[in-house]
Amino acid sequence: MASIAANIEQLESTLGAAITEAGDEAALEAVRVGALGKKGSISELLRALGGMSPEQRQEFGPLINGLKTRVTDALGARRDILKAKALDARLATETVDVTLPVRDPAIGLGRVHPVSQVADELLAIFADMGFSIAEGPHIENDNYNFTALNIPEDHPARQEMDTFYFPERADGTRRLLRTHTSPVQIRTMLGAKPPIRIIAPGRVFRCDYDQTHTPMFHQVEGLVIDKQANLGNLKWVLEEFLKAFFEVPNVKMRFRASHFPFTEPSMEVDVGCTRVGNELKIGEGDGWLEILGCGMVHPNVLRNVGLDPAEYQGFAWGMGIDRIAMLKYGIPDLRTFFASDLRWLRHYGFAALDMPSLAGGLSR
Ligand code: DAH
Repeated sequence: MASIAANIEQLESTLGAAITEAGDEAALEAVRVGALGKKGSISELLRALGGMSPEQRQEFGPLINGLKTRVTDALGARRDILKAKALDARLATETVDVTLPVRDPAIGLGRVHPVSQVADELLAIFADMGFSIAEGPHIENDNYNFTALNIPEDHPARQEMDTFYFPERADGTRRLLRTHTSPVQIRTMLGAKPPIRIIAPGRVFRCDYDQTHTPMFHQVEGLVIDKQANLGNLKWVLEEFLKAFFEVPNVKMRFRASHFPFTEPSMEVDVGCTRVGNELKIGEGDGWLEILGCGMVHPNVLRNVGLDPAEYQGFAWGMGIDRIAMLKYGIPDLRTFFASDLRWLRHYGFAALDMPSLAGGLSR
Protein backbone atom coordinates (compact mmCIF):
# COMPACT_ATOMS: atom_id res chain seq x y z
CA MET A 1 0.00 0.00 0.00
CA ALA A 2 2.96 2.27 0.57
CA SER A 3 3.53 1.92 -3.17
CA ILE A 4 0.19 3.61 -3.92
CA ALA A 5 1.30 6.66 -1.99
CA ALA A 6 4.64 6.58 -3.81
CA ASN A 7 2.80 6.25 -7.13
CA ILE A 8 0.67 9.26 -6.36
CA GLU A 9 3.75 11.31 -5.52
CA GLN A 10 5.53 10.11 -8.64
CA LEU A 11 2.48 10.92 -10.81
CA GLU A 12 2.23 14.40 -9.36
CA SER A 13 5.84 15.24 -10.21
CA THR A 14 5.50 13.77 -13.74
CA LEU A 15 2.30 15.71 -14.40
CA GLY A 16 3.81 18.86 -12.88
CA ALA A 17 6.76 18.62 -15.25
CA ALA A 18 4.51 17.91 -18.26
CA ILE A 19 2.35 20.93 -17.41
CA THR A 20 5.36 23.25 -17.14
CA GLU A 21 6.78 21.94 -20.40
CA ALA A 22 3.55 22.28 -22.41
CA GLY A 23 4.47 24.93 -24.99
CA ASP A 24 0.99 25.78 -26.23
CA GLU A 25 -2.65 25.24 -25.39
CA ALA A 26 -2.92 22.10 -27.55
CA ALA A 27 -0.01 20.41 -25.73
CA LEU A 28 -1.51 21.39 -22.39
CA GLU A 29 -4.87 19.94 -23.42
CA ALA A 30 -3.13 16.62 -24.21
CA VAL A 31 -1.67 16.59 -20.69
CA ARG A 32 -5.11 17.32 -19.22
CA VAL A 33 -6.73 14.47 -21.17
CA GLY A 34 -3.88 12.13 -20.13
CA ALA A 35 -4.56 12.89 -16.46
CA LEU A 36 -8.21 13.81 -16.10
CA GLY A 37 -9.80 12.39 -19.30
CA LYS A 38 -11.93 9.26 -19.14
CA LYS A 39 -8.88 7.00 -19.32
CA GLY A 40 -6.55 9.49 -17.66
CA SER A 41 -4.10 8.47 -14.93
CA ILE A 42 -5.87 10.36 -12.14
CA SER A 43 -9.29 9.15 -13.31
CA GLU A 44 -7.99 5.59 -13.12
CA LEU A 45 -6.77 6.14 -9.54
CA LEU A 46 -10.19 7.51 -8.61
CA ARG A 47 -11.83 4.47 -10.17
CA ALA A 48 -9.48 2.18 -8.20
CA LEU A 49 -10.79 3.73 -4.96
CA GLY A 50 -14.04 1.84 -5.61
CA GLY A 51 -12.30 -1.51 -5.18
CA MET A 52 -10.52 -0.63 -1.96
CA SER A 53 -11.41 -1.43 1.61
CA PRO A 54 -13.02 1.35 3.70
CA GLU A 55 -9.75 1.92 5.57
CA GLN A 56 -7.75 2.19 2.38
CA ARG A 57 -10.35 4.52 0.90
CA GLN A 58 -10.04 6.73 3.97
CA GLU A 59 -6.29 6.85 3.58
CA PHE A 60 -5.98 7.27 -0.16
CA GLY A 61 -9.19 9.13 -0.99
CA PRO A 62 -7.92 12.49 0.31
CA LEU A 63 -4.51 11.89 -1.32
CA ILE A 64 -6.00 11.21 -4.77
CA ASN A 65 -8.54 14.00 -4.53
CA GLY A 66 -5.82 16.38 -3.36
CA LEU A 67 -3.76 15.38 -6.38
CA LYS A 68 -6.72 15.98 -8.68
CA THR A 69 -7.29 19.47 -7.24
CA ARG A 70 -3.64 20.49 -7.46
CA VAL A 71 -3.26 19.18 -11.02
CA THR A 72 -6.47 20.95 -12.05
CA ASP A 73 -5.20 24.20 -10.56
CA ALA A 74 -1.79 23.81 -12.18
CA LEU A 75 -3.46 23.18 -15.56
CA GLY A 76 -5.55 26.34 -15.16
CA ALA A 77 -2.60 28.48 -14.17
CA ARG A 78 -0.54 27.20 -17.10
CA ARG A 79 -3.46 27.79 -19.50
CA ASP A 80 -3.64 31.44 -18.41
CA ILE A 81 0.07 31.88 -19.06
CA LEU A 82 -0.12 30.23 -22.47
CA LYS A 83 -3.18 32.31 -23.46
CA ALA A 84 -1.38 35.52 -22.55
CA LYS A 85 1.68 34.38 -24.51
CA ALA A 86 -0.43 33.55 -27.57
CA LEU A 87 -2.09 36.96 -27.42
CA ASP A 88 1.28 38.71 -27.14
CA ALA A 89 2.54 36.77 -30.15
CA ARG A 90 -0.55 37.73 -32.19
CA LEU A 91 -0.28 41.36 -31.21
CA ALA A 92 3.35 41.36 -32.23
CA THR A 93 2.58 40.06 -35.74
CA GLU A 94 -0.72 41.90 -36.36
CA THR A 95 0.49 45.45 -36.11
CA VAL A 96 -1.78 48.16 -37.48
CA ASP A 97 -0.25 51.26 -39.02
CA VAL A 98 -2.81 53.93 -38.18
CA THR A 99 -1.05 56.44 -40.40
CA LEU A 100 -1.94 54.46 -43.56
CA PRO A 101 -4.78 55.91 -45.69
CA VAL A 102 -8.23 54.34 -45.30
CA ARG A 103 -8.68 51.47 -47.69
CA ASP A 104 -11.98 50.02 -46.65
CA PRO A 105 -12.71 47.33 -49.23
CA ALA A 106 -16.44 48.05 -49.04
CA ILE A 107 -15.90 51.68 -50.00
CA GLY A 108 -13.38 50.67 -52.66
CA LEU A 109 -15.73 48.17 -54.28
CA GLY A 110 -18.96 50.17 -54.23
CA ARG A 111 -19.78 52.29 -57.25
CA VAL A 112 -22.02 55.30 -57.74
CA HIS A 113 -24.47 54.75 -60.61
CA PRO A 114 -23.99 57.14 -63.57
CA VAL A 115 -27.52 58.54 -63.05
CA SER A 116 -26.69 59.47 -59.44
CA GLN A 117 -23.34 60.84 -60.55
CA VAL A 118 -24.90 63.04 -63.25
CA ALA A 119 -27.65 64.19 -60.86
CA ASP A 120 -24.91 65.23 -58.40
CA GLU A 121 -23.07 67.03 -61.19
CA LEU A 122 -26.26 68.90 -62.17
CA LEU A 123 -26.86 69.92 -58.57
CA ALA A 124 -23.28 71.16 -58.19
CA ILE A 125 -23.60 73.32 -61.32
CA PHE A 126 -27.05 74.77 -60.70
CA ALA A 127 -26.56 75.30 -56.96
CA ASP A 128 -23.54 77.40 -57.89
CA MET A 129 -25.82 79.55 -60.09
CA GLY A 130 -28.23 80.10 -57.20
CA PHE A 131 -30.87 77.51 -58.03
CA SER A 132 -32.51 75.44 -55.34
CA ILE A 133 -33.91 71.93 -55.63
CA ALA A 134 -37.59 71.13 -55.85
CA GLU A 135 -39.31 67.77 -55.78
CA GLY A 136 -42.71 66.31 -56.50
CA PRO A 137 -44.43 62.93 -56.21
CA HIS A 138 -44.18 60.17 -58.80
CA ILE A 139 -47.94 59.60 -58.61
CA GLU A 140 -49.55 62.73 -59.98
CA ASN A 141 -53.01 63.94 -60.76
CA ASP A 142 -54.14 64.75 -64.24
CA ASN A 143 -54.31 68.45 -63.47
CA TYR A 144 -50.66 68.94 -62.45
CA ASN A 145 -49.27 66.58 -65.08
CA PHE A 146 -51.38 67.97 -67.94
CA THR A 147 -54.19 70.49 -67.53
CA ALA A 148 -52.40 73.12 -65.45
CA LEU A 149 -49.50 72.86 -67.90
CA ASN A 150 -51.85 74.01 -70.65
CA ILE A 151 -52.38 70.50 -72.02
CA PRO A 152 -56.18 70.25 -72.17
CA GLU A 153 -58.22 67.03 -72.26
CA ASP A 154 -58.20 66.57 -76.06
CA HIS A 155 -54.62 67.70 -76.66
CA PRO A 156 -52.51 65.30 -78.77
CA ALA A 157 -49.61 65.65 -76.30
CA ARG A 158 -51.59 63.45 -73.94
CA GLN A 159 -51.48 60.58 -76.39
CA GLU A 160 -47.84 61.17 -77.28
CA MET A 161 -46.80 60.73 -73.66
CA ASP A 162 -47.81 57.02 -73.39
CA THR A 163 -49.09 57.58 -69.88
CA PHE A 164 -49.42 54.88 -67.21
CA TYR A 165 -52.83 55.46 -65.59
CA PHE A 166 -54.20 54.08 -62.35
CA PRO A 167 -57.76 52.68 -62.28
CA GLU A 168 -60.53 55.25 -62.25
CA ARG A 169 -61.69 56.33 -58.80
CA ALA A 170 -65.27 56.75 -57.55
CA ASP A 171 -65.27 60.45 -58.47
CA GLY A 172 -64.26 59.64 -62.05
CA THR A 173 -60.67 60.94 -61.74
CA ARG A 174 -57.63 58.86 -62.58
CA ARG A 175 -54.22 59.30 -61.08
CA LEU A 176 -51.13 58.57 -63.15
CA LEU A 177 -47.38 58.11 -63.00
CA ARG A 178 -45.95 61.49 -63.94
CA THR A 179 -44.77 61.49 -67.55
CA HIS A 180 -42.35 64.38 -67.04
CA THR A 181 -40.90 66.56 -64.26
CA SER A 182 -42.94 69.57 -65.48
CA PRO A 183 -45.69 69.12 -62.83
CA VAL A 184 -43.05 70.19 -60.29
CA GLN A 185 -43.22 73.62 -61.99
CA ILE A 186 -46.89 73.84 -61.07
CA ARG A 187 -46.36 72.62 -57.50
CA THR A 188 -43.49 75.08 -57.02
CA MET A 189 -45.39 78.09 -58.37
CA LEU A 190 -48.43 77.22 -56.27
CA GLY A 191 -46.27 76.94 -53.17
CA ALA A 192 -43.93 79.93 -53.39
CA LYS A 193 -43.92 83.56 -54.53
CA PRO A 194 -41.53 84.68 -57.27
CA PRO A 195 -38.64 85.15 -57.68
CA ILE A 196 -38.35 81.40 -58.30
CA ARG A 197 -35.20 79.61 -59.39
CA ILE A 198 -35.42 75.84 -59.13
CA ILE A 199 -34.28 72.66 -60.73
CA ALA A 200 -36.32 69.50 -60.23
CA PRO A 201 -34.56 66.22 -60.94
CA GLY A 202 -36.44 62.95 -60.66
CA ARG A 203 -38.00 59.83 -62.09
CA VAL A 204 -40.61 59.91 -64.81
CA PHE A 205 -42.60 57.12 -66.46
CA ARG A 206 -43.78 56.33 -69.98
CA CYS A 207 -44.91 53.13 -71.60
CA ASP A 208 -42.02 52.74 -74.04
CA TYR A 209 -39.06 50.36 -74.41
CA ASP A 210 -36.14 50.21 -76.86
CA GLN A 211 -32.43 51.10 -77.00
CA THR A 212 -33.08 54.73 -76.04
CA HIS A 213 -36.35 54.36 -74.08
CA THR A 214 -37.20 52.64 -70.80
CA PRO A 215 -40.56 52.77 -68.96
CA MET A 216 -38.85 54.63 -66.10
CA PHE A 217 -36.21 57.24 -66.75
CA HIS A 218 -34.94 60.49 -65.26
CA GLN A 219 -35.49 64.11 -66.18
CA VAL A 220 -34.42 67.41 -64.77
CA GLU A 221 -36.66 70.43 -65.02
CA GLY A 222 -35.51 74.03 -64.68
CA LEU A 223 -37.77 76.99 -63.88
CA VAL A 224 -37.06 80.68 -63.42
CA ILE A 225 -39.87 83.14 -62.69
CA ASP A 226 -39.52 86.82 -61.86
CA LYS A 227 -40.47 90.13 -63.42
CA GLN A 228 -37.80 90.24 -66.09
CA ALA A 229 -36.49 86.71 -66.77
CA ASN A 230 -36.05 86.54 -70.53
CA LEU A 231 -34.80 84.43 -73.41
CA GLY A 232 -31.33 85.98 -73.17
CA ASN A 233 -31.09 84.79 -69.55
CA LEU A 234 -32.30 81.33 -70.57
CA LYS A 235 -29.66 81.10 -73.25
CA TRP A 236 -26.92 82.17 -70.82
CA VAL A 237 -28.01 79.71 -68.15
CA LEU A 238 -28.10 76.81 -70.61
CA GLU A 239 -24.76 77.73 -72.16
CA GLU A 240 -23.06 77.98 -68.76
CA PHE A 241 -24.62 74.70 -67.76
CA LEU A 242 -23.55 72.86 -70.91
CA LYS A 243 -19.95 74.12 -70.71
CA ALA A 244 -19.68 73.12 -67.05
CA PHE A 245 -21.39 69.77 -67.55
CA PHE A 246 -19.41 68.63 -70.60
CA GLU A 247 -16.26 70.16 -69.08
CA VAL A 248 -15.30 72.04 -72.26
CA PRO A 249 -14.41 75.74 -72.74
CA ASN A 250 -17.02 76.31 -75.47
CA VAL A 251 -20.26 74.72 -76.56
CA LYS A 252 -21.78 75.47 -79.93
CA MET A 253 -25.56 75.77 -79.47
CA ARG A 254 -28.47 75.95 -81.86
CA PHE A 255 -32.01 76.94 -80.86
CA ARG A 256 -34.67 75.42 -83.12
CA ALA A 257 -38.28 76.59 -83.03
CA SER A 258 -40.45 73.85 -81.58
CA HIS A 259 -43.70 73.39 -79.73
CA PHE A 260 -44.54 72.60 -76.14
CA PRO A 261 -47.99 73.44 -74.76
CA PHE A 262 -46.49 74.95 -71.59
CA THR A 263 -44.07 77.37 -73.26
CA GLU A 264 -44.41 80.12 -75.83
CA PRO A 265 -42.19 80.52 -77.73
CA SER A 266 -40.79 76.98 -77.46
CA MET A 267 -37.40 75.77 -78.60
CA GLU A 268 -35.32 72.68 -78.81
CA VAL A 269 -31.60 73.05 -78.20
CA ASP A 270 -28.94 71.19 -80.14
CA VAL A 271 -25.26 71.11 -79.24
CA GLY A 272 -22.39 70.83 -81.70
CA CYS A 273 -20.56 67.53 -81.81
CA THR A 274 -18.02 65.50 -83.75
CA ARG A 275 -17.29 61.84 -83.94
CA VAL A 276 -13.60 61.03 -83.53
CA GLY A 277 -13.29 57.33 -84.26
CA ASN A 278 -15.62 55.71 -81.82
CA GLU A 279 -15.75 58.71 -79.52
CA LEU A 280 -18.36 61.44 -79.52
CA LYS A 281 -16.96 64.89 -78.71
CA ILE A 282 -19.54 67.38 -77.46
CA GLY A 283 -19.12 71.11 -77.95
CA GLU A 284 -17.54 71.67 -81.35
CA GLY A 285 -17.95 70.21 -84.81
CA ASP A 286 -20.30 69.90 -87.74
CA GLY A 287 -22.75 67.48 -86.19
CA TRP A 288 -25.73 68.40 -84.00
CA LEU A 289 -27.27 66.56 -81.09
CA GLU A 290 -30.64 67.41 -79.62
CA ILE A 291 -30.24 67.85 -75.91
CA LEU A 292 -33.22 69.60 -74.33
CA GLY A 293 -36.53 71.41 -74.71
CA CYS A 294 -37.17 74.91 -73.37
CA GLY A 295 -39.09 78.13 -73.74
CA MET A 296 -40.80 81.07 -72.07
CA VAL A 297 -43.47 79.90 -69.63
CA HIS A 298 -46.88 80.14 -71.33
CA PRO A 299 -49.16 82.90 -69.95
CA ASN A 300 -51.89 80.27 -69.44
CA VAL A 301 -49.58 78.30 -67.14
CA LEU A 302 -48.89 81.44 -65.10
CA ARG A 303 -52.63 82.14 -64.87
CA ASN A 304 -53.29 78.54 -63.83
CA VAL A 305 -51.11 79.02 -60.75
CA GLY A 306 -52.51 82.46 -59.94
CA LEU A 307 -49.66 84.57 -61.31
CA ASP A 308 -50.47 87.62 -63.43
CA PRO A 309 -48.68 87.29 -66.79
CA ALA A 310 -48.66 91.07 -67.05
CA GLU A 311 -46.47 91.18 -63.94
CA TYR A 312 -44.49 87.94 -64.02
CA GLN A 313 -42.66 86.03 -66.70
CA GLY A 314 -40.10 83.32 -66.85
CA PHE A 315 -38.46 80.44 -68.64
CA ALA A 316 -38.29 76.70 -68.24
CA TRP A 317 -36.46 73.74 -69.68
CA GLY A 318 -36.47 70.00 -69.41
CA MET A 319 -33.98 67.31 -70.32
CA GLY A 320 -33.23 63.64 -69.80
CA ILE A 321 -30.64 62.91 -67.11
CA ASP A 322 -29.99 59.43 -68.50
CA ARG A 323 -29.63 60.85 -71.99
CA ILE A 324 -26.97 63.38 -71.03
CA ALA A 325 -25.25 60.67 -68.95
CA MET A 326 -25.13 58.47 -72.08
CA LEU A 327 -23.65 61.35 -74.10
CA LYS A 328 -21.08 62.41 -71.52
CA TYR A 329 -19.89 58.97 -70.53
CA GLY A 330 -20.30 57.16 -73.85
CA ILE A 331 -22.90 54.62 -72.73
CA PRO A 332 -24.65 53.19 -75.79
CA ASP A 333 -27.80 51.50 -74.44
CA LEU A 334 -30.24 53.06 -71.97
CA ARG A 335 -31.68 49.68 -70.96
CA THR A 336 -28.34 48.68 -69.38
CA PHE A 337 -28.79 51.53 -66.86
CA PHE A 338 -31.52 49.58 -65.13
CA ALA A 339 -30.34 45.99 -65.64
CA SER A 340 -28.47 45.87 -62.28
CA ASP A 341 -25.47 44.15 -63.85
CA LEU A 342 -22.55 44.53 -61.44
CA ARG A 343 -19.98 44.27 -64.23
CA TRP A 344 -21.66 47.22 -65.97
CA LEU A 345 -21.70 49.23 -62.75
CA ARG A 346 -18.03 48.51 -62.09
CA HIS A 347 -17.20 49.69 -65.60
CA TYR A 348 -19.39 52.81 -65.79
CA GLY A 349 -19.77 53.62 -62.09
CA PHE A 350 -17.96 56.24 -60.03
CA ALA A 351 -15.91 56.07 -56.83
CA ALA A 352 -18.13 56.72 -53.84
CA LEU A 353 -15.94 59.35 -52.21
CA ASP A 354 -15.37 61.45 -55.36
CA MET A 355 -18.23 63.91 -54.93
CA PRO A 356 -18.63 66.15 -57.97
CA SER A 357 -17.90 69.80 -57.25
CA LEU A 358 -17.06 72.77 -59.43
CA ALA A 359 -13.88 73.42 -57.47
CA GLY A 360 -12.69 69.83 -57.29
CA GLY A 361 -13.86 68.78 -60.76
CA LEU A 362 -17.16 67.21 -61.79
CA SER A 363 -15.91 63.89 -63.10
CA ARG A 364 -12.52 62.35 -62.44
N1 DAH B 1 -41.71 68.20 -70.33
C1 DAH B 1 -41.05 68.06 -71.61
C2 DAH B 1 -40.96 66.59 -71.98
O1 DAH B 1 -41.05 65.76 -71.13
C3 DAH B 1 -39.69 68.65 -71.55
C4 DAH B 1 -39.74 70.13 -71.47
C5 DAH B 1 -39.71 70.88 -72.60
C6 DAH B 1 -39.80 70.76 -70.24
C7 DAH B 1 -39.75 72.27 -72.55
C8 DAH B 1 -39.86 72.14 -70.17
C9 DAH B 1 -39.82 72.88 -71.33
O2 DAH B 1 -39.92 72.80 -69.02
O3 DAH B 1 -39.87 74.27 -71.26
O4 DAH B 1 -40.77 66.28 -73.12
